[in-house]
Amino acid sequence: MNFKATVITNVEVSPGYFRLRLTAPQFFVTAASPGQFVMVRVSASIDPLLRRPFGIFDVGVMATEYPDVQQPFLDILYKVVGKGTAMLAGFHHGDQMEVLGPLGKGFGTGEPSEGKVLVGGGVGLAPLYYLARELVKESRVHLFAGGRGRDDVLCITEFERLGVETYVSTDDGTLGERGLVTEVLERYLANGTGAKTIYACGPFPMLKAVAEIAGRTGIPCQVSLEAYMACGVGACLGCVVKGRDHSEATPDYRCVCKDGPVFDHTELSW
Ligand code: FES
Repeated sequence: MNFKATVITNVEVSPGYFRLRLTAPQFFVTAASPGQFVMVRVSASIDPLLRRPFGIFDVGVMATEYPDVQQPFLDILYKVVGKGTAMLAGFHHGDQMEVLGPLGKGFGTGEPSEGKVLVGGGVGLAPLYYLARELVKESRVHLFAGGRGRDDVLCITEFERLGVETYVSTDDGTLGERGLVTEVLERYLANGTGAKTIYACGPFPMLKAVAEIAGRTGIPCQVSLEAYMACGVGACLGCVVKGRDHSEATPDYRCVCKDGPVFDHTELSW
């Protein structure tokens, strides 16, 4: 579904990272699920670079200045990395943009358990927040959050407010433990902590390392991929990745936008 959204707030939560809250129709809030994404058209121009995919950070309904009137909303967490996101950072309360979504296949929440493990790097934490909000209703949730430095580890307080147990690490040691998030994860799993499912979102090398850990330990694992997307609906084939059966003779490609962005780690060729 395509709709016009109005900016409610657009706040810099960490240097270079913004949390954008947009109005959304009630049917969007009802239809969305964790792991899905939206395509945002940042300008009226036909430049495809100005149409960008963003994981859904949160959806809900908020109070307004009018008693008895509630406003459904959609939150996005983004990093300023180029022209489109720099333009987005300049949006203010009341500005409008076009949104297409919710799109793609999200996370499967599975059976309630004590061992739901989330692994996020940088802005990859965005879809994990919405997922955590759903999982904590029935499960105990642990979050492994990493980034290059303290500015890249986002919204940890929000996760903690949900009751999620958090483990933070940074490459430069400016927040939490020094080291890779996957090293902290491995140590945690080695202690026989009873992890039942791993959910990961972040840069590709981190996802690859998580998939390897899942393969070694036999723990089911879902990964959310980031990709360049022009259409977001399976039409342009600009977002394909190699599936597990891929070879020169028998190509096996998956569209991140339509078959994902969430995949079981065994579906892909790493
Ligand atoms: Fe066009 Fe995925 S973005 S096919």
